[in-house]
Amino acid sequence: MALLAQQLAYIASAVLFVWGLKRLGSPDTARSGNALSASAMLLALATTLIAGEVISWTVLLVALAIGSVAGALLARLVQMTAMPQLVAVFNGFGGGASALVAAAEFLRLDASGAQGGHPALLVTIALGILVGTVTLTGSFVAFGKLQGLLPGRPVTWPLQRVLSGLLFIGLIVLGALLAGVGAELEFVAALDGWEVLALLGLGAALLGIALVLPIGGADMPVVVSLLNSYSGLAAAAAGFAIGNPLLILAGALVGAAGLILTRIMCRSMNRSLANVAFGAFGGAGATATADDGERPVRRTTTEETALLLAYASSVVVVPGYGLAVAQAQHETRKLMDLLVERGVKVSFAIHPVAGRMPGHMNVLLAEADVPYDRLLDLDEANPEFSRTDVVVVVGANDVVNPLAREADSPISGMPILNVDEARNVVVIKRSLSPGFAGLDNPLFYLDHTLMLFSDAREAMADLAREVRELK
Ligand code: TAP
Repeated sequence: MALLAQQLAYIASAVLFVWGLKRLGSPDTARSGNALSASAMLLALATTLIAGEVISWTVLLVALAIGSVAGALLARLVQMTAMPQLVAVFNGFGGGASALVAAAEFLRLDASGAQGGHPALLVTIALGILVGTVTLTGSFVAFGKLQGLLPGRPVTWPLQRVLSGLLFIGLIVLGALLAGVGAELEFVAALDGWEVLALLGLGAALLGIALVLPIGGADMPVVVSLLNSYSGLAAAAAGFAIGNPLLILAGALVGAAGLILTRIMCRSMNRSLANVAFGAFGGAGATATADDGERPVRRTTTEETALLLAYASSVVVVPGYGLAVAQAQHETRKLMDLLVERGVKVSFAIHPVAGRMPGHMNVLLAEADVPYDRLLDLDEANPEFSRTDVVVVVGANDVVNPLAREADSPISGMPILNVDEARNVVVIKRSLSPGFAGLDNPLFYLDHTLMLFSDAREAMADLAREVRELK
């Protein structure tokens, strides 16, 4: 009876997880999706604690208290722009936790002398330790690069790929030994189970570092998304190891979702996963062809831009990373309201990789209560630009760089927002500095482009003031 109740509760959690994920797919249902997924996790935890055997409630409650305080503090204190680092750390801990669960299960079997009869179980234990530990150390290297604690450029060493390949093969062999392959051989029999376990963990830790260090800091968001997928796979493996079907399901959902997101990010940058892993883009290899200060641009002022906007019939705002850095979303919303009051049609064009993490711009604009029906995605926005009076590019650069249309440029083929097709373009940024890809932007030098050199938040506040003062 108790087992039936437990299984039913697990099925209910599984349904809530999938339903929550589905609702997370759209901004207007995302909040309830998050709440549904969180309640699924609560139900799963409560069921496991009630149905399972708790060794020490004290340890459990202390860990719960520490984790809750740390989580609440991080959620409050970490800036929006530092979210990728935070996600990297979370993934790392997730992978590490799965590796520990798998290791504990191995030690339990080893102590009871029962591991010999469970080769399939031992394979999942080995996988949990391998993938979980790679996720742990790989994620911390990604965190270090994003936080500027480690060099952002790709760090390479002689025979790097060969050595990583050999290490990987060595780990497969250790995993096989852990699963009992070759137990009849003398040197294998001489090894203690925990010795193989320790070697596997150590080697996997090295592999995680060796895989992420050679990737440029610029590609870290994609790497973080991939490691998120790994953390799910490690959790699924741990679920097999301890025979918990809900952990298997939740891990598989995270693994699949992370992989889908990684694919979307790669496609939006027109790059393959192999190119991200081995291409050394955005690091030392991608040299900036930044402005040499010689080419003329048309500068503008907030007064002139306010007039242009106030008397336009349609305006499209293109937000980018600079909007996030300047935290200009609320001022942008105020300007939008004033223009709408004057009868101007205002929309926002959102590039899928604008900013530094998936959905970055959507989150910022949602924070400022910009209505979702004003947001256009890449495919909806591009046909609009040729009919638009003024495009205002706020702190965006690569996502509007026409170099992407040229065959020999480093971002060749990346889908961009074709803002240069609009009648007028105003670009708000502080200088002519390149963006994330380190490339100069020909958009800035076009005849119908006006450059408003300013911090995005100040510019938006000044523009709102000017528009308000116009009769
Ligand atoms: P970027 O190309 O990085 O350009 C951002 C621009 O914002 C910079 O040129 C900078 O110019 C300006 N800026 C910085 N601080 C500012 C401030 N306080 N006020 C005004 N402007 C400011 O941004 P983007 O167009 O959003 O493109 C995103 C890039 O990130 C793409 O290359 C994309 O591939 C990459 N990427 C994104 C993701 C995701 S998932 N979003 C993941 C991996 C990589 P100034 O210094 O002159 O002001």
